[in-house]
Amino acid sequence: MVPVIAIDGPSGSGKGTIAALVAERLGWHCLDSGALYRVLGLAAERRRLDLDDPLVLVELAATLPVAFEAQRVLLDGEDVTNLIRTEAAGLAASRVAVHRGVRDALLGWQRRMARPPGLVADGRDMGTVVFPDAPLKCFLDASPEARAMRRYKQLKEKGLDANLPTLVEEIRARDQRDRERAAAPLRVADGALVLDTTALSITQVLDQVLDAARR
Ligand code: CDP
Repeated sequence: MVPVIAIDGPSGSGKGTIAALVAERLGWHCLDSGALYRVLGLAAERRRLDLDDPLVLVELAATLPVAFEAQRVLLDGEDVTNLIRTEAAGLAASRVAVHRGVRDALLGWQRRMARPPGLVADGRDMGTVVFPDAPLKCFLDASPEARAMRRYKQLKEKGLDANLPTLVEEIRARDQRDRERAAAPLRVADGALVLDTTALSITQVLDQVLDAARR
């Protein structure tokens, strides 16, 4: 079986950065499952679909023309890498992600990403639902304020619009939806290594995950 490292956590916990670095160090593939939900949210909004209607969204999820190529995300062949990073796309993602049918439709796609020599997968349900047999599961967390500040810096670095108080509010709203939804709510997987990254540097978190991977 292809080894998988599952890294879950709320928005801004650093899981995306850590997953990419762990994958790079190990020479493994990397799955950013949030990008998949973001592309779906963007595609649904562009088609003016009702984000609360599971039926039309399941159909879109099952046929989503998405491709991940060398750090770029393509929708219908169009490079949407930056477009899906806005908070609006994050909110749309969290709205389409509440539907169980939508999540089921994306399961096979995500599992097919587990190819030799291994996969590092980040998201909300990597350890609980998508890769429950992963030999290493991590759950990264941090205070909402620290997470909003990280997101603020990321957006600014990309030259995107950002307002800190608005980000704190958006992060709280998204957290609430992710934790309280019935389908695959965000929670710590059994046996997961839990790391509070509020006061940790990227290197410190990376070292702890790599240490656990070596054990
Ligand atoms: O980057 P950030 O952590 O803010 O978000 P993301 O990982 O790109 O995910 C965006 C949204 O997609 C989340 O708020 C979740 O609602 C949803 N998502 C999910 O439901 N399951 C996943 N495995 C990944 C993301």
